[in-house]
Amino acid sequence: MEPLIPDIETLQTGRLVLRPLTMNDAESVVRICSNFEVVRNMLTAPHPYTLADAETFLRKVTAQGHDRDSYVWAITRRTPRGDAGEHIGTIGLHGNWTHHHAEVGYCLARHEWGNGFATESLRAAVHFAFTRTSLVRLHAGYYTRNPASGRVLQKCGFTHEGLRPRMYLRFGDWLDLALMRLLREEWNPAAPPASP
Ligand SMILES: CC(C)(COP(=O)(O)OP(=O)(O)OC[C@H]1O[C@@H](n2cnc3c(N)ncnc32)[C@H](O)[C@@H]1OP(=O)(O)O)[C@@H](O)C(=O)NCCC(=O)NCCS
Repeated sequence: MEPLIPDIETLQTGRLVLRPLTMNDAESVVRICSNFEVVRNMLTAPHPYTLADAETFLRKVTAQGHDRDSYVWAITRRTPRGDAGEHIGTIGLHGNWTHHHAEVGYCLARHEWGNGFATESLRAAVHFAFTRTSLVRLHAGYYTRNPASGRVLQKCGFTHEGLRPRMYLRFGDWLDLALMRLLREEWNPAAPPASP
């Protein structure tokens, strides 16, 4: 089966515009990831988080072309005119195109938590994955101490498929990783939109 890996597109949701990340986003990525509460539950982000860290991340995920392995969007607030506004988070699909699967990752600026934005963004990214690309499987791991992330995945149709106890040593804590997955045939495209 030939992989289908189209160029990244801007995605619109009720309250958000997910636009491709660019190298110009380094400063806002630093702003979002400088907060320890944001990075402590991410899989790899360092703390303190520097401009060099942001540039390394952006160089990796903004590569275009058919050999791209990731789709990564800036989560932005939608302006009244429907354009991309303030950059408040990131969401990505990190693909393995030999096997047509991708790992999902996301984060939101601390002051934006609790508004349903992660769920709204993930629904849009899942829709892109299963309608525009050849991906057949999406998966994500979250630390069990971070149930909000598990809830986001669950609301988007992901199901639990395992637990890896003591999987990561992160900032001095041993962390258990819960594994979630969504297969193309399990996906319900008619799921209600996340926004009110
Ligand atoms: C995890 C994260 C993306 C969630 O973003 P968000 O926009 O606040 O998420 P949403 O509002 O869409 O949904 C959060 C859900 O978790 C629930 N929740 C929040 N805290 C919770 C807790 N301690 N226990 C259980 N559920 C919790 C909320 O009530 C909501 O569910 P509901 O709609 O059924 O009420 C955000 O907290 C974040 O960026 N964290 C830091 C980075 C991170 O952890 N990334 C994920 C790595 S796997």
